[in-house]
Amino acid sequence: MTPKKMGKKKAVTREPTISFVPGVANNLHATIFRYNPSMDFVPRTHTYTMEKKEGESVWELLSRIKHRHDGSLTFRGNCGNGACGGCGIKVNGKPTLACTTQVASSLDAHNTMRIDPLDEKSVKKDLAQDETLFFAQFLAVKPWIQLRSNEHVRQHKMSLQELERLDRAPNCHMCQLCNTAARTDLEKELGPAAFVKGYRYARDMRDGDVTRIKLLQSHFPVHYALKSANLCPRDIMPGEKMEWIKKQKIGKSTERSK
Ligand code: SF4
Ligand code: FES
Repeated sequence: MTPKKMGKKKAVTREPTISFVPGVANNLHATIFRYNPSMDFVPRTHTYTMEKKEGESVWELLSRIKHRHDGSLTFRGNCGNGACGGCGIKVNGKPTLACTTQVASSLDAHNTMRIDPLDEKSVKKDLAQDETLFFAQFLAVKPWIQLRSNEHVRQHKMSLQELERLDRAPNCHMCQLCNTAARTDLEKELGPAAFVKGYRYARDMRDGDVTRIKLLQSHFPVHYALKSANLCPRDIMPGEKMEWIKKQKIGKSTERSK
């Protein structure tokens, strides 16, 4: 029998099972979203009881669970220090990077915490997202320099002022936290991360394309949480970038003058 594809509105079953670590008094209880589309009919949760470790990040806790207790647990992440942007998850419902979030500050009075994927509707396995849509949105905004038709490829050293125009947008490490926080429907609208990427090139003095801004404006989310969209571990303020793009007045030309 083949497991059914996860329906959009299917509720997560709350049937926590416990992995006891015998003889450990100083325990924490991490309830983690689990879903393997090739085996599970519906998502479930599993509560792992683990020894508390001082100074441990959520990413280190997940690694400890995976390597010492349950090798089937799947999550993303690479650098362990907030650089790669790969470990985005929800801790107690809040989008965050697992590797920069301390376990100690995530536990409640009963030493419990909840860990979920950024978007339960598009899970590849457990905490790992299916990123197909996310990267399709990036490609849609043409994230590369498009020269004006009368310009030739040449070396262009950016001045400090030209760099400042980009307003930290090049620092985006594509963690997707802003997309989750803004609660946009990525199947219908572009998320804040795509706007940040579009902004980065639209503000670049070397770029002459205006179709990118037109595309972003025509796919501007109808409802989105502006304040939440500014949630960003790199302090890029994605919501502000969206508002800037919304206000741009573009004529019929497909090229911008300098
Ligand atoms: S803008 Fe910030 S929150 Fe959004 S994807 Fe980039 S780094 Fe992550
Ligand atoms: S593991 Fe790279 S940002 Fe968290």
